[in-house]
Amino acid sequence: MDFVDMKRRSNLTRKILVAAALTALLVFMLKSSTTTSISTKFAQHEPGVTHVLVTGGAGYIGSHAVLRLLKDSYRVTIVDNLSRGNMGAVKVLQELYPEPGRLQFIYADLGDAAAVNKIFSENAFDAVMHFAAVAYVGESTAEPLRYYHNITSNTLLLVKAMAAHGVKTLIYSST
Ligand SMILES: NC(=O)c1ccc[n+]([C@@H]2O[C@H](COP(=O)([O-])OP(=O)(O)OC[C@H]3O[C@@H](n4cnc5c(N)ncnc54)[C@H](O)[C@@H]3O)[C@@H](O)[C@H]2O)c1
Repeated sequence: MDFVDMKRRSNLTRKILVAAALTALLVFMLKSSTTTSISTKFAQHEPGVTHVLVTGGAGYIGSHAVLRLLKDSYRVTIVDNLSRGNMGAVKVLQELYPEPGRLQFIYADLGDAAAVNKIFSENAFDAVMHFAAVAYVGESTAEPLRYYHNITSNTLLLVKAMAAHGVKTLIYSST
């Protein structure tokens, strides 16, 4: 290989590296701008748009409530720990309403106070519909403490977070 050949190769390598770096930078910029614009919609109050937090939104009653809210042009955040719910239902809802700022899913347990507070800090909710629960009669008599925790103490955590963040509307479905 002569000197000219080597120089040509090193020029080509440099061009490939620059192109790869520019592509990576572009992808990174696109990704961060999409994330920002989507998360901003959930993070800020928007005139004329009511943002509802639906706990247990992957469950039976919750997912139907979410569908109705989305049909009626609400902005919805689902929080669910998927202990009982069905992620398939959430995916169907996301496919029906893919526009940015319509529906987001957050995987979290309502018993985790830090996680619940973070969710309230990062999102501008106008109201909460609370369906996250365990609700089987037989199981509730076999494991009463688990039921007290999940229904009573977790609901208190949620209500405290609402009070701390000035969210004043709660719709609560409970057996
Ligand atoms: N199904 C009915 O006919 C009916 C009737 C009246 C009232 N309710 C009440 O409505 C509520 C919801 O009932 P459902 O039938 O939709 O139940 P479901 O089990 O289908 O849904 C409950 C959802 O809450 C989630 N969840 C449970 N614990 C959680 C936690 N700690 N953190 C986050 N998510 C959690 C589950 O993963 C599930 O997706 C219950 O309080 C129930 O008693 C139900």
